[in-house]
Amino acid sequence: MKADVILGLQWGDEGKGKVVDVLTPGYDVVARFQGGPNAGHTLEFNGEKYILRSIPSGIFQGGKINIIGNGVVFDPLLFRQEAEALAASGHDLTRQLYISKKAHLILPTHRVLDAAYEAAKGDAKIGTTGKGIGPAYTDKVSRNGLRIGDTLTNFPEKYAAAKAKHEAILKSLNYEYDIAQLEKDWFDAVEYLKRFTLIDSEHVINRYLREGKSVLAEGAQGTMLDIDFGSYPFVTSSNTVCAGACTGLGIAPNRIGEVYGIFKAYCTRVGSGPFPTELFDRTGDALCELGHEFGSVTGRKRRCGWLDLVALKYSVMVNGVTSLIMMKADVMNRFETIKVAVAYRIGNEIVSEFPYEINDDIVPVYKEFKGWRTDIDRIRRYEDFPAELKAYVEFIETETGVPVKIISVGPDREETIIR
Ligand code: GDP
Ligand code: IMO
Ligand code: MG
Repeated sequence: MKADVILGLQWGDEGKGKVVDVLTPGYDVVARFQGGPNAGHTLEFNGEKYILRSIPSGIFQGGKINIIGNGVVFDPLLFRQEAEALAASGHDLTRQLYISKKAHLILPTHRVLDAAYEAAKGDAKIGTTGKGIGPAYTDKVSRNGLRIGDTLTNFPEKYAAAKAKHEAILKSLNYEYDIAQLEKDWFDAVEYLKRFTLIDSEHVINRYLREGKSVLAEGAQGTMLDIDFGSYPFVTSSNTVCAGACTGLGIAPNRIGEVYGIFKAYCTRVGSGPFPTELFDRTGDALCELGHEFGSVTGRKRRCGWLDLVALKYSVMVNGVTSLIMMKADVMNRFETIKVAVAYRIGNEIVSEFPYEINDDIVPVYKEFKGWRTDIDRIRRYEDFPAELKAYVEFIETETGVPVKIISVGPDREETIIR
């Protein structure tokens, strides 16, 4: 059996949580492969709304096994808050959720370092989620990190040594902080973690695949935030692309099956960094308002703009996307005209390949589409879509060379069309 991958093609918040939940009944196992509590994946069904940060989005349908993979960075305290809130609403995950011993820990001082590095960057700040993601991945790569498996033996000593390194850096930055209470709660959460099954996830997942079980690998963030291929340095610190599912779960490349790439029918970005199709006018405000574009983790207003096909085609290429999933077309129900960037003008040149540097010199070249001016929220069959929306979808398919297999017309699980 092969593992299918589902990932974001833009700057995150494409609607990954919703789609993973919709697809979960077709799988035996759902596994998160990278990122950490910087993610906020929203699911809506039966009038309830849930936002997941570290926990995979496959927990609500049919008691499926969910795994937090080795590629994830993991904050026990935020995890505890998330798991306890779910338990309080009737979703006890202790038997259903497995956690990789190789996932790296986010220590309280990682959060402080995240804030200190951002403060030191001044105007050049990334606009991180402040969850300690970058510092935790930095320690992983520089071989100073602690893993979940480390909590099982001599942990206080290991923790003290790691913390001392962070304290030295924070001292050199003259950064004031007080984490006494946070640290206490964090240690309590490390104990809480032990009621879950901690596993060698690469062995478990490969055994499942050998046994013919189906696995869905869930990504966080999006390709434009990938550490290698995103708009560096305004990116997150992990490989959000399909290859991240291989390294983040221990699945060989020839074990990857379908690659589902999710995109919004327009574009959003939260945090700093370039965004060629960003709108600063009333249309941008309308996208934000109608799409409720506020960060699910930080509450920050998301920047909004038109769909960028130059960037989307690049994302399709680096991920080997086999099926596209389009979200939130309903947000543009009332628009008279819809634009899509098909190329960039840079000086006197027209560029259709996503360039090395994304900066203010880029002027998008737009193709205009007539809006459908109809409510599509209640439509459940592609055939019933207005002609203008079909033309929009089919143009994207032609340009990318990939079929749009799922279209989402509202936040609820039911508001989904599978072709
Ligand atoms: P994720 O991080 O990729 O899981 O996405 P987020 O949950 O951060 O952001 C997506 C937002 O759009 C959430 O508030 C969803 O409830 C909402 N959403 C998802 N699909 C649709 C859709 O098709 N239409 C509308 N209007 N909202 C949607
Ligand atoms: P989901 O999984 C949108 C952005 C931050 C910031 C940059 C680096 O919900 O799509 P970090 O805290 O990772 O060091 O921040 O990345 N960012 C996201 N934006 N959705 C996310 O996750 C994000 N995770 C990080 O805003 O610009
Ligand atoms: Mg999100």
